Amino acid sequence: DWWPGEPSEPQWRRQLDHAENQLHQGAWAAAVDAAGAPELHNSARALWLMARALDAGAEARRDNRMLARAIAAYFRLLKMADGLSDARLLSITNRTIDRVYFQGTYLSAEPIYRLLIRRFPNEPAYHNNLTISFLMANRADLAEGVLKETLRRWPDDQVALAHYGFVLKTQHNRLEEAVDLFEKALKDDSGPACEARFYYHLGDALLLLGRFPEAHMVHKRGAALGHFLSPSQRSLYNVPRLKSQPWWDVSQTPYSNLARALEASWRKILQEGEAARALYEQEKEGLREKGEWSQLDLFVRGQEVPGRCKRAPVTCGIVRAEPAAASCRRGQIKFSLIEPGTHVRPHVGPTNCRLRMHLGLSNTTGTYLRVDRETRQWREGKVLLFDDSFEHEVWHNGTRPRLVLIVDVWHPALTPAERRSLPAI
Ligand code: LMR
Ligand code: MN
Repeated sequence: DWWPGEPSEPQWRRQLDHAENQLHQGAWAAAVDAAGAPELHNSARALWLMARALDAGAEARRDNRMLARAIAAYFRLLKMADGLSDARLLSITNRTIDRVYFQGTYLSAEPIYRLLIRRFPNEPAYHNNLTISFLMANRADLAEGVLKETLRRWPDDQVALAHYGFVLKTQHNRLEEAVDLFEKALKDDSGPACEARFYYHLGDALLLLGRFPEAHMVHKRGAALGHFLSPSQRSLYNVPRLKSQPWWDVSQTPYSNLARALEASWRKILQEGEAARALYEQEKEGLREKGEWSQLDLFVRGQEVPGRCKRAPVTCGIVRAEPAAASCRRGQIKFSLIEPGTHVRPHVGPTNCRLRMHLGLSNTTGTYLRVDRETRQWREGKVLLFDDSFEHEVWHNGTRPRLVLIVDVWHPALTPAERRSLPAI
């Protein structure tokens, strides 16, 4: 295979062979030196060796600065793309994109995908991957532009249809259109867009539209395909073997001490929750069909929100005594205040790795929590325990603001190693 800018002098060809040998032997510093000779400045092969040596070194040393140098070398190499074979170009772009994603700088993938789109203009996959990189960078606005162009050229591309449905639903609340796009994308439950998250968003859009029987059909399809644990348990970040039930009895868990301690101190916890009222923040996920709902986080992803426990020392003392609560990296500990007249529409949490304990604190009369098929009521000074990966819904038909303390705990069946290593949510 041919490299552009290959030096004509045998000496410099030998130097490149030497650099390559060093690289293969893991002597990446020597390889960087050999490939970095000024005489090899125009050699694509030298840049390739340099980039790979820096890349290997960054990996071995876990060195982010060296990784940045490797990525810069890959980018310089990609400037010579015109002289590279398809196979070679693709192996370079694949690795560069992989490293850029690892670094978390998703927007930097844009020029690489633009290059691939120019080189392979009839391949929708590169358009779609650019869309996905924009979405990972939280730039739905940029993704939308690419999606429109993709669908102009390939109106039936299922991956583009699904992502456009996602953008219309989540950015513009254009739910009917989103539903139509998802339906096309997931047609016959086969094809490249048949992913859990699109079943999730299709079902959720139908729920938002009040089209409940259709939503249920989608949830059944998603569960039958293995995308959901069951039609009503639709979390997307799951450990598969965990016991699944909507409502739990505290006695089925090792969390009786936590529950007893919360119940014993509930009046003090109520006081702490009320004293901090100025700090509560509005719920922003769009889960309310109507009404007002605000929350005060104490712990998020297993970490105290700085300064919060000064405001709620008794509450924090109790939850800190249960590591499965205070260090639950897939949950939160928070006060949750719902105003009369509020309806929280049916929704599911993100993971089956936690159970959610609620301590009723005030004005629970006329308030209802449905989890899957069973509706219960809070009581002041009493805990409820449920699995919020199941569909749940809240009504406040009472007359005064309802306060509860929410304490997420690791699912009891998770091993200590899993509790340490599962990525936070
Ligand atoms: C929920 O987690 O969706 C609700 O149960 C929260 C709340 O305050 O009732
Ligand atoms: Mn919820």
